[in-house]
Amino acid sequence: MKIKKAIIPAAGLGTRVLPASKAIPKEMLPIVDKPAIQYIVEEAVKAGITDILIITNRGKGAIEDHFDHSIELEGMLKTKAKKKQFEEITSVTQLANIYFIRQKETRGLGDAVLRAKEFVGDEPFAVLYGDDVIIGEIPAIGELCEAYEKYGKNVVGIKEVTDEQVVKYCSLKVEKKEENVFDVSDMIEKPSIYNKFSNYSILGRCVLDSRIFEILENTPLGVGNELQLTDAMKTVARKEGMTGVVFSGERHDMGNKFGMLKANIDVGLTHPETKNELKAYIKKLAEEI
Ligand code: UTP
Repeated sequence: MKIKKAIIPAAGLGTRVLPASKAIPKEMLPIVDKPAIQYIVEEAVKAGITDILIITNRGKGAIEDHFDHSIELEGMLKTKAKKKQFEEITSVTQLANIYFIRQKETRGLGDAVLRAKEFVGDEPFAVLYGDDVIIGEIPAIGELCEAYEKYGKNVVGIKEVTDEQVVKYCSLKVEKKEENVFDVSDMIEKPSIYNKFSNYSILGRCVLDSRIFEILENTPLGVGNELQLTDAMKTVARKEGMTGVVFSGERHDMGNKFGMLKANIDVGLTHPETKNELKAYIKKLAEEI
């Protein structure tokens, strides 16, 4: 079954990137000239997703405005014959069918996903975390959707991370199946270095079927007194196994300050309007530091 629906949880408070995220949702922070969430929507669209539900919160209205028409701006660009900018800003409104729902209390990623129950109905669906931007030739979520179609199990996007990172994310019990594909039979959210299964962690993407909602409804609050999506996926992994796909793109964590900087440098080095100047600037800096 082709996956057509995706959800993007973007209702978190973003405390790790304060004060930048005080009045601007962290998902709207730019990577060179586009907000992070636009890269995520574009990735989903490239993978064949047609319907996207963005889960927001109070103070996240800028996300809705970004994917809507800006009548004044469009009128001004039209009369001033700024064709390129006009096309750029109107194309954002036509990327996909984009819907919004609010998570009224910040009760964790699992609770945010639960808000999508009605939207998803009975279909398998993709989840793209709103602060994880993955840049690559092939859309990461497309690689996961293919694995879902091939193996018929729920899928998580994974990478091997450092010891320092694994304790902040989650740790997976994995067995290699084929190149870049693993069977996942267990997982633990924010492990200690002593009880981790491996250094493979879920990084911002998964494909789930609608049974996850009932599991979430019966999952107790976990780490941080929040409803953790990982705890619900653990139930699935233990019961029937999941597929782990090492996606090919580079993941940028826009939820922390270094991740934001790195994303801007990486994209800036390939962007036609910035790459030459940035390259020269980095070379000059490298000589000085
Ligand atoms: P994070 O774990 O980064 O949480 O969420 P956060 O609250 O945004 O960030 P910090 O820790 O305070 O800095 C991962 C993704 O899940 C969403 C976030 O918006 C982010 O895209 N999320 C998290 C929700 O939608 N709702 C929640 O209750 C928590």
